[in-house]
Amino acid sequence: MPTDLPPVDKAKFVAAKRASAYVEDGMTVGLGTGSTAAWLVRCLGERAQTEGLRFRGVPTSERTADLARELGLEITTLEEARWLDLTIDGADEHDARLDLIKGAGGALLREKIVATASERMIVIADASKKVETLGACPLPVEVIPFGWQTTCALIEEALIGLDVMGREVTLRMEGEAPFVTDEGNHILDLHLKRIGDPRRLGLMLNQIAGVVENGLFVDICDVVVTGYADGRVTLH
Ligand code: 5RP
Repeated sequence: MPTDLPPVDKAKFVAAKRASAYVEDGMTVGLGTGSTAAWLVRCLGERAQTEGLRFRGVPTSERTADLARELGLEITTLEEARWLDLTIDGADEHDARLDLIKGAGGALLREKIVATASERMIVIADASKKVETLGACPLPVEVIPFGWQTTCALIEEALIGLDVMGREVTLRMEGEAPFVTDEGNHILDLHLKRIGDPRRLGLMLNQIAGVVENGLFVDICDVVVTGYADGRVTLH
């Protein structure tokens, strides 16, 4: 383990290290986005150096692609790979059913496409990501820039009558300008506090014109690897 890491990074590192052992020679692997996924990419870089591990990575963001390239890892595109053996990614929240909220890092669209093209999805997380009910953290929804204000109003209207506690919707900003995803879209963050029925909400959101994808991952994740600052790791 790298020395002098803050406790939360130690937890992320041990989860990533454990999950990196799932990658076998010759696999095609989805590489997630975020600080935990960055540890995974570094652990895989280490295995490539020390053991000669050979695999093809499909990065879920430009950030992850840059890191993988820096480490000399072989990367490819989803267009070329088509199907993957495994995706390993972080999450903002997961519940006991292994349903997830993802997208705080703004990469939910590519992350969901890559995860659903994979035989298995493994989530790596520190213990703070486990929740009873999804929704304490904002739910990101990727929308096309054209008429995003109308899309926002349609989402607010659709939330009425759903099993959620909050209904505030905000446009994600980066400095003075709206945040732009790798696909050139914007992100609306839904502050729902509690999501009673993630499947229903996810289906409802994706029916709204202007919505590209939402950050609810329902029945996609197979395993959650949780790391702790003392070096322990648990699997769910
Ligand atoms: C990016 C994501 C990330 O996986 C999620 O935000 C977790 O990030 P971190 O590992 O930095 O806590 O969904 O879109």
